[in-house]
Amino acid sequence: MYSEINFDNIDINAAPPAEEPARQYYYMAKCRELVREFELKNARRPTAFTQTFGCQMNARDSEKLSGILRSAGFAEADSEEADFVIYNTCTVRDNANQRVFGRLGVLNGYKKKNPQMKVALCGCMMQEDLVIRKLQKSYSFVDLVFGTHNLYKFAELLYRCYTEKGMLVDIWKDTDKIVEDLPVERKYPFKSGVNIMFGCNNFCSYCIVPYVRGRERSRAPEEILREIRTLAADGVKEVMLLGQNVNSYGKEPKGTEFMTFPELLREVEKVEGIERIRFMTSHPKDLSDELIQVMKESKKICRHLHLPLQSGSTRILERMNRRYTKDSYLALAEKIRREIPDISLTTDIIVGFPGETEEDAEDTIDVIRKVQFDNAFTFVYSRRTGTPAAVMEQVPEDKVRENFDRILACVQETARERVKRFEGQTLPVLVEEINEQDASFVTGRLSNNTVVHFAGDGSLIGRIVDVKLKRCEGFYYIGELMS
Ligand code: SAH
Ligand code: SF4
Ligand code: F3S
Repeated sequence: MYSEINFDNIDINAAPPAEEPARQYYYMAKCRELVREFELKNARRPTAFTQTFGCQMNARDSEKLSGILRSAGFAEADSEEADFVIYNTCTVRDNANQRVFGRLGVLNGYKKKNPQMKVALCGCMMQEDLVIRKLQKSYSFVDLVFGTHNLYKFAELLYRCYTEKGMLVDIWKDTDKIVEDLPVERKYPFKSGVNIMFGCNNFCSYCIVPYVRGRERSRAPEEILREIRTLAADGVKEVMLLGQNVNSYGKEPKGTEFMTFPELLREVEKVEGIERIRFMTSHPKDLSDELIQVMKESKKICRHLHLPLQSGSTRILERMNRRYTKDSYLALAEKIRREIPDISLTTDIIVGFPGETEEDAEDTIDVIRKVQFDNAFTFVYSRRTGTPAAVMEQVPEDKVRENFDRILACVQETARERVKRFEGQTLPVLVEEINEQDASFVTGRLSNNTVVHFAGDGSLIGRIVDVKLKRCEGFYYIGELMS
């Protein structure tokens, strides 16, 4: 286990070990030597800042990056004016992409003030050839670039970045490797994401994720459970099991005799100390009756299911390669509601997919009305180079806008009604943080993931307390502490 590593016992003058993770521990020890040299020269430790874009999976990866930086001896910086800055990027939509290029200009300014500064980029965006070419052409001040498949090599790349000249670029096309036991620095002491699988094999026609995250691979159940037990022993109460499509857990790589996702959930339920279990994301095409049953019987699995719809039009769903229809989605939602009546359903919707008409948007609105989502993330379709949808005929921007506004208004109206159903009840809330706007308030979540703000102080953070839900304000509640 990683926690047993003593870096002082590693011979950094020997040749690097070939096997992982021993090789990375060796490079962490080598980096510690560089950090000591920096300290002698500057009378302070070098600082590092990790910035995350994108989804929960990227957030979890960033905790690994921070863990490695900490093990290498870097101090945590609270801003991008640091000695080492790493951006863990997302490319699911073009605006995520543009934000990174925008911020890079700012980093260049900091680097001019602090010539010792190093700038690193990793994550999904780096798996695109176009991006790499652009960086090499116009962003030569960037020191290190790597992708999603070799993140476990970060310690080694960090060492090379400090000892070699020029921009170091290391991008792999794919990998079948999962390296366990790297250091992790969690953002929250009481909750944690846990990867159960990597990659995606679904190839929805609009989506770039399968190209930048590679083929699906599941982690061995014993590794997942070992990690969760360690987290529980460390005070974690809530785990979120992470995968692009958790319902296909255990199916890849072929030949592995892994359990199904519902079976895995049953095992996680047994881990003492874990009080809440969440998971992301569930693809509607293969959500099994067994999963609904396990959720229904569970005392720990949260009353929340994120079930991305993308579109309510069967015609568009087919073009999106989603492999379900409007009717089968509605039937599934109805079945889930019948079995678990208090559950919250949330969703993702894409507006403006190639060929989408007003009629198709009406179908989406119809599904929103019928299912009554507690929340829906509504995105304008973004054309991603290399995906099948990129070469289909695109919808004009003004048409997309019109449909987007109508769909968003419908989401807001139905969610407002739906979220309100617990008003007046007293329910358990896991307190997550001091309220951002008012420091005399704290913010937490119900089992169904709805946000609750109530008067309280920092001593409540990480605790599950009873809160009376006094007033619903659209997507969240204002409450009052009862216990
Ligand atoms: N694996 C998850 C989704 C991961 S991406 C799933 O299948 O549900 C998160 C969300 O981003 C998707 O649900 C989709 O709504 C949105 N998205 C993905 N590609 C997009 C694109 N090209 N344009 C706009 N939104 C997109
Ligand atoms: Fe993208 Fe579809 Fe895979 Fe989700 S399931 S990551 S939307 S290809
Ligand atoms: Fe973005 Fe990569 Fe996640 S593209 S949404 S960070 S898997």
